[in-house]
Order: sequence, then C-alpha cells, then structure tokens
Amino acid sequence: MMRRILPILIFILPVNAMAAALLPGDSENGKKLHDSSSCLSCHSQMTEGKPDMLYTRSDRRVTSLGGLIKQVNGCNSMQKVGLDERGVNDVVNYLNETFYNFSD
Ligand code: HEC
Repeated sequence: MMRRILPILIFILPVNAMAAALLPGDSENGKKLHDSSSCLSCHSQMTEGKPDMLYTRSDRRVTSLGGLIKQVNGCNSMQKVGLDERGVNDVVNYLNETFYNFSD
C-alpha cells in the first residue's frame, strides 16, 4: 500500500506548494470556503452580524497583500479553521478581489 502511495505523494506535494504560492487563486472557491468555514461565523459574532465590516472599516489592520496573506494564515492556524495551503490562497484572492483590492 505505502509503496504505491509514496511516489504519488512525492509527486503531488511540490506541485501543490507551487500552486499555493501563486496568485491569483480561485476566488469563487475562496468565497465558498470563507462563508462555510468558521471564518464567517466567528467574524459575524465579533461584529454583531456585519462580518464584511471587518474588512472594510477605515481602521482595518490589513494594509498590504503581504499583510493579508499573513492575517489569513494567522487566523486559519490560530483559530484552527483547517484550510490547506490552496484553500488559504483561494480565500486570500476572494478577500482581495472583493474588499481589499491590493495590486501587489
Ligand atoms: C474564532 C475567531 C476567528 C476565526 C475562526 C477567524 N478569524 Fe479572522 N479575525 C479574528 C479576530 C479576533 C480578528 C482581529 C479583529 C480586530 O483586530 O479587531 C480577525 C481579523 C481578520 C482579518 C483582518 C481584518 C482587517 O482588519 O483588515 C482578516 C483578513 C481575517 N481575520 C481573515 C480570516 C479568515 C480568512 C478566516 C478563516 C480562514 C478567519 N479570519 C477566521 C477572529 C477569527
């Protein structure tokens, strides 16, 4: 069993890592992940039902694409949301296209 799976893993892992480092990702899938995971529900609770406000308020914390990537990774791991690298990349793209609009 393992002898057949290992070569496949070795092949898939680097390809995945490369894909995850690439922007743009799939923002449509990012929205699905964001809205169906605890991202939306936690932010919703924090903002009394106005989760978008977190991304659009004038004193928002994220001020660059690098910062957005960091924040999404931070929330994902600290809050144990459980998105994989590609999922994080997709969510970053969704949030950037919809709310932040950073160009680099
Ligand atoms: C259990 C709660 C919780 C979960 C789950 C969570 N977050 Fe957060 N998130 C926070 C808190 C707390 C902040 C900081 C709010 C503040 O500074 O006022 C935050 C802030 C952010 C910000 C920065 C907003 C700004 O000010 O520009 C982004 C982006 C973000 N979260 C994305 C995500 C994404 C994407 C997910 C899912 C992968 C997620 N968060 C899951 C609690 C959570």
